[in-house]
Amino acid sequence: MSCILIFAKKIEMMKEYKRYLITSALPYANGPIHIGHLAGVYVPADIYVRYLRLRGKDVLFIGGSDEHGVPITLRAKNEGITPQQVVDRYHKIIKKSFSEFGISFDIYSRTSSKLHHKTAAEFFITMIEKGEFVEKISEQYYDEQEQEFLADRYIKGTCPKCGYEDAYGDQCEKCGSSLSPTELLNPHSVISGNKPILKETKHWYLPLDKYEDELKQWILEDHKEWKSNVYGQCKSWIDSGLKPRAVTRDLDWGVPVPLENAEGKVLYVWFDAPIGYISATRELTKDWEKYWKDKETRLIHFIGKDNIVFHCIIFPSMLKHEGSYILPDNVPANEFLNLEGDKISTSRNWAVWLHEYLIDFPEKQDVLRYVLTANMPETKDNDFTWKDFQARNNNELVAILGNFVNRTLVLTHKYFNGIVPQSGNIGGTEKEIRKLLFQYKKGIESNLENFKFREALKEAINLSRLGNKYLADTEPWKLIKTDEEKVKTILYHSLQICAAIAVLSEPFLPFTAKKLKQFLNLGNVSWDTINEFDILKPKHNINTVELLFEKIEDEQIQKQIDKLMATKALNDKNNAQLVAAKSEISFDDFTKLDIRVATIIEAEKVPKTDKLLKLTLDTGLDKRTVVSGISKYYEPAEIIGKQVCFLANLSSRKIRGIESKGMVLMVQEPDGTLRFLNPDESSVAGSTIG
Ligand code: 2FM
Ligand code: ZN
Repeated sequence: MSCILIFAKKIEMMKEYKRYLITSALPYANGPIHIGHLAGVYVPADIYVRYLRLRGKDVLFIGGSDEHGVPITLRAKNEGITPQQVVDRYHKIIKKSFSEFGISFDIYSRTSSKLHHKTAAEFFITMIEKGEFVEKISEQYYDEQEQEFLADRYIKGTCPKCGYEDAYGDQCEKCGSSLSPTELLNPHSVISGNKPILKETKHWYLPLDKYEDELKQWILEDHKEWKSNVYGQCKSWIDSGLKPRAVTRDLDWGVPVPLENAEGKVLYVWFDAPIGYISATRELTKDWEKYWKDKETRLIHFIGKDNIVFHCIIFPSMLKHEGSYILPDNVPANEFLNLEGDKISTSRNWAVWLHEYLIDFPEKQDVLRYVLTANMPETKDNDFTWKDFQARNNNELVAILGNFVNRTLVLTHKYFNGIVPQSGNIGGTEKEIRKLLFQYKKGIESNLENFKFREALKEAINLSRLGNKYLADTEPWKLIKTDEEKVKTILYHSLQICAAIAVLSEPFLPFTAKKLKQFLNLGNVSWDTINEFDILKPKHNINTVELLFEKIEDEQIQKQIDKLMATKALNDKNNAQLVAAKSEISFDDFTKLDIRVATIIEAEKVPKTDKLLKLTLDTGLDKRTVVSGISKYYEPAEIIGKQVCFLANLSSRKIRGIESKGMVLMVQEPDGTLRFLNPDESSVAGSTIG
């Protein structure tokens, strides 16, 4: 590309838009939300939107719950309730969490709403009328017992790519491959467990193969500025050849296909969900078309990496071929956040749930927002650890930001009765401070505009570092005895830095910014007010002050780590392999076993072994010796007098030179742990079991 072209492209990228439409992925309403959701999608989107608003832009921020899809109907089936009851429950919980964490949607809607159904149906009809879809009859899996087609997650089987036995019909969660049900080996129905048959059914397909060239041009040529993880994933999808995608399903939960002779068919959840952004805008304002159909709108989708293909390839193809909509200008997808080195998982309960966080850390929303931004998985997966959470709170929020603000405001109250002093003549240090403050502000702006939230946050914290250094270098608490005029200059400048922090940190730390503005008695000022240094005029009164952040103690962190360890132990136990079933025996075989209750009357370790205990049993019939491999689980002294079940007529064997007659019956847990099988109540030794 020539220099001129590069320059032209740059100019185009810097194009001033009339308005902004910011969407964030609609989370499935089949569970609460956790830190991975926040870090991946909602915190970056909210930071960006707050920044735009502070700059006075016309911006709408759209969110909502994705209420269709098989995971929701499966949950409803498992719980014996309706899908609507499932989504009603989680929509409420999710909406509340977002609001508690300051995610400042202009609307948080839902896809089970009437207006959404209408909007999605109209969209589909327009595409039908334009002849955009391909109709195709194909053979799909069908559960004969349940009389249902098995779409997506209704079918499981072995992944043909990696051999994972529990892969879904649409995706293998082990290797990440996207699959179609007929690719699965050993397919079985999730509802009945039966092997399905193949049955013919008609569906509508979006012919992505026909759009390949235009997508190549639009993404690979015209949007080279997209984040490399997004661009790379799109390129790999396009390079491996796009196939037509069915946009309808044989299911009874979703937006019904708005055609005659389409009973029992709904729109595919990934067809209707992104249209949810449109219906939510339509619900919010009668001017919705201006935001969706005018080229002067900049549309940006915030999503996680598992949504890239849907937002960069499928939804834009839908928008373009429906014909009246604009396309997204950027799709700044994040990678995933892990928790303590392990993938966040709802089914394994490996997560920090937002509603639980607020119980343990009330009013510390900004601490979590801060830590998630500092560790945002922008270009690769990243890890959240509780130790890092504590360290960032104590060493950054408390020690840098909180400390600077507190010192400045307390000293202003102490020396000048809470009145902003008049600055004297300024020297080199103050000139440098003014320069750096504007430099950090520019740094925040350019990083935010390029979706580099971690870097932007660093620049925001640099403002407090700057202030702290200024106070540490000039030591106004010493100077006050000798040079009050100089202290006035120092506190005047420190207060201006506080005001800059109150405005420039708002996108990241909205709750803190609000408090700080309250301390400073500062109204709602715009971002660009900070283009000037003198925000707080001399003689302005500031309010009383409290600490902005407090230290988080080791015990609080340990409690969280213990909670996760308990989850891990439970998961390990559940994941341990169950011993395979044994082959069948006859009743006669069973009656040959002489199983009885016995009492342990002596127990000792077998020398030179770490597994064996020598037990003397009172069997009611006799006293006999049995050697048992339970030393790891029981101390000899603690089991004397215990009643156990034992197999009395097992032929005797010599174990470590000891004649063992019979076998004590043990329960072996899936993780291999052994424990006695105890008779339910105290029984007479010699009682038989059968
Ligand atoms: O991955 C998910 O959680 C989807 N529910 C996201 C949908 S985004 C949009 F298309 F609605
Ligand atoms: Zn696989």
